[in-house]
Amino acid sequence: MGIFHLFSHKAQRAAMKREDFAKLPRHVAIIMDGNGRWAKKHKLNVAMGHRQGVETLREVIRHTDDLKIEALSIYAFSTENWKRSPEEVGALMQLILEFFASEIDELDEKNVRILILGDKSALPDKQREVLIEAERRTGDNTGLRLNIALNYGGRAELVRAAQLLAEEVKAGELEAADITEQMISDRLYTAGQPDVDLMIRTSGEMRLSNFLLYQCAYAEFLFPTVLWPDFSVADYDEALKAYGGRERRFGKRL
Ligand code: IPE
Ligand code: IPE
Ligand code: MG
Repeated sequence: MGIFHLFSHKAQRAAMKREDFAKLPRHVAIIMDGNGRWAKKHKLNVAMGHRQGVETLREVIRHTDDLKIEALSIYAFSTENWKRSPEEVGALMQLILEFFASEIDELDEKNVRILILGDKSALPDKQREVLIEAERRTGDNTGLRLNIALNYGGRAELVRAAQLLAEEVKAGELEAADITEQMISDRLYTAGQPDVDLMIRTSGEMRLSNFLLYQCAYAEFLFPTVLWPDFSVADYDEALKAYGGRERRFGKRL
């Protein structure tokens, strides 16, 4: 439990089980938003909001794994988040180290496979090394695919895919006219994983902020108003239940 648990008012209901759901998403994506507003509300430093947000993240990962959902993508730091103050960026970078130090053993034990989405090369050396090691250590695991977006931007990801394809065309391995949607999918960070079925953004903001643009083409969206540090397993279950009630048509007339 977080050191600031006294401030959070999470609903305490028994977590649902896989068999309680008629339909679950294969791939859930979450934009963890509202840490700053949560800190402000409690007259705390913004870093404390992020710290409490990590507590929510731990619970959400655990529940996703318990439900045997295939993939979870979480937005931890965008390519645009560098525009925040050096203090806040520093606090977030520090939390990356703390998160992996405290979680990696349990995640590996639970057979979770970690993948970092985004450009690791622009991160500080220590963080980059920890991330590469987490990917290496869990690389052969076959359980939950945990994708952590760090220095990630959806447009940057698409530019990268375009560059990879352009190189192949230049090398004469591929005709431009033969490029398919699948070939683009295969050159995204999430290659080999199902598209996003459910996108959740907390804090009431209704935008994508450059997250998983290509993978969300047919995602269902939910925007709970709760701030991320207050997002509970019960809120998560509610979102998953709401997903089960959505009619996904993919352009067809059912
Ligand atoms: C989201 O919380 C976490 C990150 C961007 C890392 P915010 O810090 O954006 O919270 P608000 O939007 O200011 O409340
Ligand atoms: C998106 O949230 C990025 C993360 C949650 C990591 P932001 O709070 O940075 O997005 P905007 O600026 O409100 O669109
Ligand atoms: Mg925000």
